[in-house]
Amino acid sequence: MQVMQDIDQMRAIVRDWKKQGLRVAFVPTMGNLHDGHLSLIRLAQEKADKVVASIYVNPLQFDRPDDLSAYPRTLQADLDHLEADGVDLVFTPDDKTIYPDGIEMSTKVDVPVISTILCGAHRPGHFVGVATVVCKLFNMVAPDVAVFGEKDFQQLLLIRRMAQDLNLPVTIVGAPTRREASGLAMSSRNNYLTAAEKEQAAGLYRMLRDAADKLIDAGHFYPALEQEGAAQLEAGGFVPDYVSVRRAVDLQIPSPQDKPEELVILCAAILGKARLIDNIQISRYLAER
Ligand code: PAF
Repeated sequence: MQVMQDIDQMRAIVRDWKKQGLRVAFVPTMGNLHDGHLSLIRLAQEKADKVVASIYVNPLQFDRPDDLSAYPRTLQADLDHLEADGVDLVFTPDDKTIYPDGIEMSTKVDVPVISTILCGAHRPGHFVGVATVVCKLFNMVAPDVAVFGEKDFQQLLLIRRMAQDLNLPVTIVGAPTRREASGLAMSSRNNYLTAAEKEQAAGLYRMLRDAADKLIDAGHFYPALEQEGAAQLEAGGFVPDYVSVRRAVDLQIPSPQDKPEELVILCAAILGKARLIDNIQISRYLAER
């Protein structure tokens, strides 16, 4: 596995692979890797001949300085993880490489509407930060395929939209959420939870499954369902940011014509020191139920 910080050096390697007719998949990360990331790598390996991963904690997507400084940096463990997973190249740029003239002077990528709803409403600027860094990384790595987790469902849709709108020649692939046996979605943020909170945190997915059952069985009255979901979270010790039923294709509020299998229920809630997000796609839930 090759590890590098230099854009030109990485580009030369990717160019060489492409000359040989090899397909290149890309998995961007902020490090602090867990088994959820492993499934992204596995999917990338299925989709291409070579896999590039990046590790970069992007300051532009943090809306709070304390959140950025607390974000766990575990570079050596992450590199060991990626090497064991069979990744071919790891790009580990620093801030100077990504934002050479500083963040203020850097061009930003704004995907309208989707950036400002749900998590975007609670984390101002977050999705501009994500779209900007992912766009830059795509231009640096020039992958054929890029893989993102469905746990960050809004992020996945934002990146699909950006790739389409900016005509970026990359196929975006979503990877199903990996869960602990308790149902808790795997996330770097779970490290902020105590052992007792981790058990409590499984209540997030329990609420989503209950809400999905109600949605499938009882039909269209989504505001009541959202309120019940938030109340269930509160009763479970969470401080909910939102529980929301949306169209899975564009995250807009569903109309009565939208079928249940076209919907997704998304939630974000604070538990202890962690802000946790999760979602359930009704089509997938129906197939697994
Ligand atoms: O999902 C993440 O880890 C980050 O938002 C990403 C896509 C690596 C961009 O910094």
